[in-house]
Amino acid sequence: MDDGFRIRDIDPASETEVDLVARRMRQTLVEVEGEETGTALYTMQWLRDRVRWHLDPANTTGRVFLAVGPGGRVLGHAIVRIEADDSGRRFGLFSTLFVDPASRKQAVGTRLLRHGEGWMASHALPEAATWTSSTNAKLIGLCGKHGYAITARHVHEVTGTVMVRLAKPLE
Ligand SMILES: CC(C)(COP(=O)(O)OP(=O)(O)OC[C@H]1O[C@@H](n2cnc3c(N)ncnc32)[C@H](O)[C@@H]1OP(=O)(O)O)[C@@H](O)C(=O)NCCC(=O)NCCS
Repeated sequence: MDDGFRIRDIDPASETEVDLVARRMRQTLVEVEGEETGTALYTMQWLRDRVRWHLDPANTTGRVFLAVGPGGRVLGHAIVRIEADDSGRRFGLFSTLFVDPASRKQAVGTRLLRHGEGWMASHALPEAATWTSSTNAKLIGLCGKHGYAITARHVHEVTGTVMVRLAKPLE
C-alpha cells in the first residue's frame, strides 16, 4: 500500500460499494451544479444503474476504480470507459472522478487519475479526456497539473452550464 491507500476495482457483487459510488456521483453533481440541479438531474436508481452499466461488457469497456484507505474506507473513485468521437477515433474517458472531502489534497485524485490513464494506455488509447463545468476549479486544477488542456466547450442542454473538455495525449 502506497501513501496509506491502494486502488482496486469495485466489487460488482457488493450492493454497498455500488450504492456508495452512486451516492458520491450525486454528491459530485451537487458540488458542481448546486443542491437543486444536482439532485434533480438523476434519480439514485439511475445512478446505481449507471455504475452497474459500466461493469457490463455488453454495454461498454469500462472500469470502476476505488481508492481504499485504512480499514477498507473508500476515499474516492474513478469511472473510466472507452469512447469514440464522431470520426470514430477512440479515446479514454474519465466519466467521473471523486475524492471524499475529508481525504482531499492528499494525492488521492492524482493516483486515481494516473491509474485511469494507465488503464487507458493498456488499451492503446491515444488520449485521455473528461468533461466538467468550466467553474470546476478543483478538477481543472488537478488536470492542468497533469498536462491536460481544454480542447472543446459546449453548453449543457439541460442545466445551461458551460462545459469544458479536458484532454491530454497518452504516450
Ligand atoms: C477534483 C478532485 C478529484 C481532486 O482530488 P484530490 O485528491 O484533492 O486531488 P490531489 O490531492 O491529487 O490534488 C492534486 C492537484 O489538484 C489540484 N487541486 C486539488 N484541489 C484543488 C482545489 N481545491 N483548487 C484548485 N486546484 C486543486 C492542485 O493542482 C493539486 O496539486 P497541489 O496539491 O500540488 O496543489 C476533488 O477535489 C473532488 O472530488 N472534487 C469534487 C468532484 C468533482 O468535481 N469531480 C469531477 C466531476 S466531473
